[in-house]
Amino acid sequence: MDEHERTFTLKGRVALVTGSARGIGWGIARGMAQAGAHVVLNDLDPAALAPRLEELSAGGLEGSACAFDVTDEAAVAAGVGRIVAERGRIDILVNNAGIQKRKRFVDFSYAEWRAVIDTHLHGAFLVTRAALPTMSANRFGRIIMIGSVAVQSPKAEIPAYAAAKGGVTALVRALAIEVAPLGITCNAIAPGYIATEFTRVLHTDESFTAKLMERVPAGRWGRPDDLAAAAVYLACAGGEFVNGSVLTVDGGFLASG
Ligand code: NAI
Repeated sequence: MDEHERTFTLKGRVALVTGSARGIGWGIARGMAQAGAHVVLNDLDPAALAPRLEELSAGGLEGSACAFDVTDEAAVAAGVGRIVAERGRIDILVNNAGIQKRKRFVDFSYAEWRAVIDTHLHGAFLVTRAALPTMSANRFGRIIMIGSVAVQSPKAEIPAYAAAKGGVTALVRALAIEVAPLGITCNAIAPGYIATEFTRVLHTDESFTAKLMERVPAGRWGRPDDLAAAAVYLACAGGEFVNGSVLTVDGGFLASG
């Protein structure tokens, strides 16, 4: 392996990507596997992970599955424990699992509000806390949060989501300071508008898309694959000095706001 390859490869790394049965998580997981990592796919339903594992092995890529709910403290501890027992380590964690609830602030029930914050913010807390001991034992770790352009430029009717992503983004900087001496970095990727199940109601709406394109200089919806190289960069040896940052991948959306 030459110096260029050593800088960008994830060979020998074990990467856990939460919520990776589809969408952005799957795009990132596949990108990391293509860069040489063994990727551990996670989602709520193990049945949803099986076809993804088949896709990986059909492409000659390495992966395994570990289903758990990122908001369930005991399940997170058991799942992360299983991965470390089976694979020996977790080097890279991508906190990607997420849900959306679109409604006006005044119409939110407390349970709905909590469900959104629980999944994004408390889920990231639980999985990161569970993964930190193996990372610090190895003096290597890469924690990647998934933020959103909604922190700076929210639309109406996503107040819990914007608050959750604001929390995750703030956590990046606080955690980066704490874990840097352990050889661990913590960064976020802030995707713009990416066409997935999550945004189906938006990207199937022609008038919304026409309006959105007035704000997106790239002139298109993002694709899950657009996030893959950004995640590999933050995780690879070459990303070692990037810490506490938010990398926006939005086709220029925020720049034109
Ligand atoms: P998606 O809905 O296609 O995928 C999310 C995945 O997370 C699903 O497979 C779901 O089952 C899983 N998940 C949900 N709750 C979970 C839990 N408690 N435990 C484990 N897995 C769980 O969504 P998409 O678009 O791929 O989003 C992924 C991440 O990217 C989310 O954090 C989202 O907030 C963020 N994001 C998405 C944007 C977009 O335009 N699609 C823009 C900015 C951020």
